[in-house]
Amino acid sequence: MRKIQPRLLLISCILLRSISGIFSSRSVILSSIEIFNTHELLSPKPIIYFQCHGEKKIILPDVKEKHIVYKFKGVESWQPLAELPDKKCKRCGLYESDSVKSDDIFDEWELCPDEFLDGNCIHYKEKEFNSTFTCTECITIIGAAKPSPKADSSNKKLNLAMAILLGVLTILLVAVGTFGMYKYWQRRRREQHQARFLKLFEEGDDIEDELEF
Ligand SMILES: *[C@@H]1O[C@H](CO)[C@@H](O)[C@H](O)[C@H]1NC(C)=O
Repeated sequence: MRKIQPRLLLISCILLRSISGIFSSRSVILSSIEIFNTHELLSPKPIIYFQCHGEKKIILPDVKEKHIVYKFKGVESWQPLAELPDKKCKRCGLYESDSVKSDDIFDEWELCPDEFLDGNCIHYKEKEFNSTFTCTECITIIGAAKPSPKADSSNKKLNLAMAILLGVLTILLVAVGTFGMYKYWQRRRREQHQARFLKLFEEGDDIEDELEF
């Protein structure tokens, strides 16, 4: 009983973790951004916002200057930027409010959960901006959807082990078969010898019988 309890604890921990992984949303946060361009000529301070199709605008209050790398921890009041559904992309973009015409587009792109390698994803657009996004929950999706390189190598190791095992088994079978054949052949030979000897003996007996008469 004492031995089972820690194992049970471990199993329930793993179960809880995977269950929380299923139910937790895949929050995308903005880790860093650098803009190379602003589109509004009249206003000195641009209003830059992020928006996914059909969702609310998320204004980035600090991003005002060009060629400055703004870094974020992910706990800012306006974070996270978006929640990603399981194995599906969202069309999102970075925009700048325009007081006269329609808002200017830095870029629009597909934000996909499987693009967060190591939980991070860089989106760069020439002459517009460079940004990094983080989605720690997206890693688990990658792990579930595609075999990670680590799992792949362990799979290869498993295959190699299987091949070796099969090879050894084959050799063993061949050896056992050969040994069996050799034993059978030996027995046959012995039997043949015995038969010949017995025949000789019997013939000898016959001769002896004849001699007694
Ligand atoms: C974009 O930002 C990332 C992270 O800060 C950096 O590693 C990368 O070199 C940048 N790319 C360009 C083209 O500025």
